[in-house]
Amino acid sequence: TANRHLLLPKTCPPDPKWEFPRERLTIEQVLGEGEFGRVLRAKAIDIGGIAGATTVAVKTLKENACASELADLLSEYQLLKEAQHPNVIRLLGACTTPGAPVYLIIEFAEFGSLRNYLRRSRHLESGIRSDGCSSLSNVIVCEAEGTRPVYTVTPRDILSFAWQISKGMAYLADIKLVHRDLAARNVLLAAEKVCKISDFGLTRDVYEDDAYLKRSKGRVPVKWMAPESLADHVYTSKSDVWSFGVLLWELVTLGASPYPGVDVHNLYNLLKAGYRMERPANCSQQLYKLMTSCWHQEPGMRPSFKELVNHWEKMLEDSV
Ligand code: ADE
Repeated sequence: TANRHLLLPKTCPPDPKWEFPRERLTIEQVLGEGEFGRVLRAKAIDIGGIAGATTVAVKTLKENACASELADLLSEYQLLKEAQHPNVIRLLGACTTPGAPVYLIIEFAEFGSLRNYLRRSRHLESGIRSDGCSSLSNVIVCEAEGTRPVYTVTPRDILSFAWQISKGMAYLADIKLVHRDLAARNVLLAAEKVCKISDFGLTRDVYEDDAYLKRSKGRVPVKWMAPESLADHVYTSKSDVWSFGVLLWELVTLGASPYPGVDVHNLYNLLKAGYRMERPANCSQQLYKLMTSCWHQEPGMRPSFKELVNHWEKMLEDSV
């Protein structure tokens, strides 16, 4: 039946602490859309303790979504309520009253997804690099030109992004929250280049591209998944660390697609045989070593996010 998704299950009573009146929300435009989900930009009046209008992002379902997608959205709602960290996207409220679509209201990140930001920064690259040095120092440097926004990414930004994401993930690991879908497309970039981990409700269809393999149990981000997740559906903070290793590779390549040319159906066997992505052109030996340590076959041998935070802090100190 149409509009099945509009109905809330009886198991989800409204939460007065987070419920936001729909009439104080004005939808402005679509920011992103997947098969079943949609993210909108909106203005909210008097939200999150701020008087007047605030730009927010609103996560909702499309008309073709059904009960399982609604369950995913509500599970993300529950998880977001608990997560409070500067590098994790913040929940501001929700509209769950019956008779209208469910809305999760989340903080707006003005630069959008980190993957898109990295890719947009690429066209600025030409003519600036080419000193041929094999460290991060030739990733890119670029100056603002004119008035249109310029998506700069300096070598220090790359380290800072890795540091911030590790801090957010260390926090999530601390509160026993396993992300399961850590990737550059699921990290948002807010003002001052602050990274915000997002999309941890397994509502994994909202963004671009072909990163997800369609399976009976939803879409699977094979190229970011640890071998134990691929083989046995085991997800832990250590499998999140594996995904973080792939995210590092995305950072260094400015948003390239991992395992280029590898068919997702062959990936598990390749990984089991010890195959790993090679060192990207602009990646230092030190960074590559960290990346590959995240891809240890044995989950217990991978670094923790806390240890990774310490590595980035050392590297940031050394690079001043
Ligand atoms: N796209 C998806 N979620 C977003 C958010 N919270 N802010 C900006 N763009 C987004």
